[in-house]
Amino acid sequence: MCGIVGYTGPNPALSRVIEGLRRLEYRGYDSAGVALATKVGEKLVVEKKAGKLANLEGTLTSDYSNAHGGIGHTRWATHGGPTDVNAHPHLDESGKLAVIHNGIIENYIELKEELERRGHKFKSETDTESVAHLLSEEFKISGDLATAMRSVCSRLRGSFTLLAIHSDRPDLIVGARRNSPLVVGVGTGENFLASDVSAFISHTKRALELGQDQVVQVTPEKVVVTDLSGAAITPKEYEITWDAKAAERGGFKHFMLKEIFEQPKAVADTLLGRFPSSDSIELKELENLALDCNRILILACGTAYHAGLIGKYAIEEWVQIPVDVELASEFRYRKPVLTSKTLVITISQSGETMDTLMALRHAESLGAQTLSICNTIGSTIPRESDAVLYTHAGPEIAVASTKALLTQVVVLHLVALYIANRSGSLSKSRIKELISELLELPNKIEEILETVEPLREMTRGYKDSNSVLFLGRHVGFPAALEGALKLKELAYMHAEGFAGGELKHGPIALIDKGTPVIAILPPASSEIAEKMRSNIQEVRARGANVIAIADPSHNLDIPNLIRIPECEELLQPLLSIVPLQVFAYEMAVARGNDVDQPRNLAKSVTVE
Ligand code: M6R
Repeated sequence: MCGIVGYTGPNPALSRVIEGLRRLEYRGYDSAGVALATKVGEKLVVEKKAGKLANLEGTLTSDYSNAHGGIGHTRWATHGGPTDVNAHPHLDESGKLAVIHNGIIENYIELKEELERRGHKFKSETDTESVAHLLSEEFKISGDLATAMRSVCSRLRGSFTLLAIHSDRPDLIVGARRNSPLVVGVGTGENFLASDVSAFISHTKRALELGQDQVVQVTPEKVVVTDLSGAAITPKEYEITWDAKAAERGGFKHFMLKEIFEQPKAVADTLLGRFPSSDSIELKELENLALDCNRILILACGTAYHAGLIGKYAIEEWVQIPVDVELASEFRYRKPVLTSKTLVITISQSGETMDTLMALRHAESLGAQTLSICNTIGSTIPRESDAVLYTHAGPEIAVASTKALLTQVVVLHLVALYIANRSGSLSKSRIKELISELLELPNKIEEILETVEPLREMTRGYKDSNSVLFLGRHVGFPAALEGALKLKELAYMHAEGFAGGELKHGPIALIDKGTPVIAILPPASSEIAEKMRSNIQEVRARGANVIAIADPSHNLDIPNLIRIPECEELLQPLLSIVPLQVFAYEMAVARGNDVDQPRNLAKSVTVE
């Protein structure tokens, strides 16, 4: 949450910072602001505005081409409403020092009271402003922004990425991080600091990872990293494997639509290189894990949690060990029983979700082995896990997660097959069959995408519905939950996913004449196919307007029928979820909502 960019180099800082903010706006869009060092030792230029970045851009009256150092922020509000005053950057009283922040300073009230007692005047309701005043005091003592930052960070509780600039050193940006993301972009004669690499990807592919409680100073020629005591740290460098085009809309109206259409490639890329032969699986990343576990616990949030729920069915069936899936935000406050034989798998597209990170640390403190499934190289969750399997979905910019989910499920299937292959819980011939099914997925997803136009048209007919219900059984149940989540976050409609078997235990009371019900049917050969067909009859008998998602093995007399190709039952969510994504997308468009930046949300939830 909140996007942060800092730039120092020979180019005009404003254009570099605004370009970065444009790419980071998915992280928060309640307000945006920049601070630029235009003249040594003079007040910084600060422009900030409530609302989306376009509002800020609309009010800029100069390109400030004489500023070569600057910081910028796009906000997801926590402390203080989304107003011009609460927008970042926040200044000290001299107007020469500015700070931007992502995260929450938990002890800001006591800091603020202390600062007010010493005569500081606050302008905003934010937790961040305390940092600006504290930094100012410390800067007066040491005359060095990095020293000041180290000493201020030692006093802060909570999570933060902070960037600061002082007009006395306009070419210097100082950053710090604890539990919130910050990466360095190493350019030629210019350097960047940002919440993620997309902010500088069009200028450099060299990035440096920053660890917990580290402070970084960047000038055009130099990057210096220390811990909070001032001891030098050598950060790990990595190369960004995708290019700027991947983070652009490329002719699609919205990032979400583009990302839905990228799914065949994302799944193919995630499978690439994993099968040295038609009946074996290679996951070198797992070689250092003791895989003699007797239990798997999957921890994640939102869509990634649904990926875990889907994966559970395959792991239990193929590997024959118990799998529990839990919301990371709930797990971290429990006293669960974990042993060294519990393999904890965290799933996170961003690798920065605070609840998942804290759940990971909780699991580690209880002695579990940890594996993360992540899409963002160098992010915190994989860095803190015993092993990581990266999904190869490419950057996911839209707030609503699509291709990340499919690739996360595919990786869970790979893990299940890998363990099953080693333990012998599946025969070689069955493994071969399943590998072949996995490899056919990209084409089958493509097939669905080629025929979505009628679905899009049909969706528009439901735009005034009050509520949409999603029904599924077995592995179709978490698919139903995901369909409902997508619709809620994009269309702002009431939507709920139910297990077909639960209908008569309460939810059927919601069915009224015309209630849209999206029913996901398993293949006709499944032992629950008949049961699901009965559920459809039950809701139709009560007036529901059923939209069925089914493969051609079903002969159904339902006017609204969405066909998906046939596949192995356990893999079916990888197909059935695609029309659900399109349904939610089209509904959001039809209702006039902002698809890529749905209200109240942000892409990475880096605060609790
Ligand atoms: O980055 P993560 O995968 O950890 O994010 C988890 C959830 O916040 C995320 O999936 C969220 O639910 C999406 N907006 C759903 O579309």
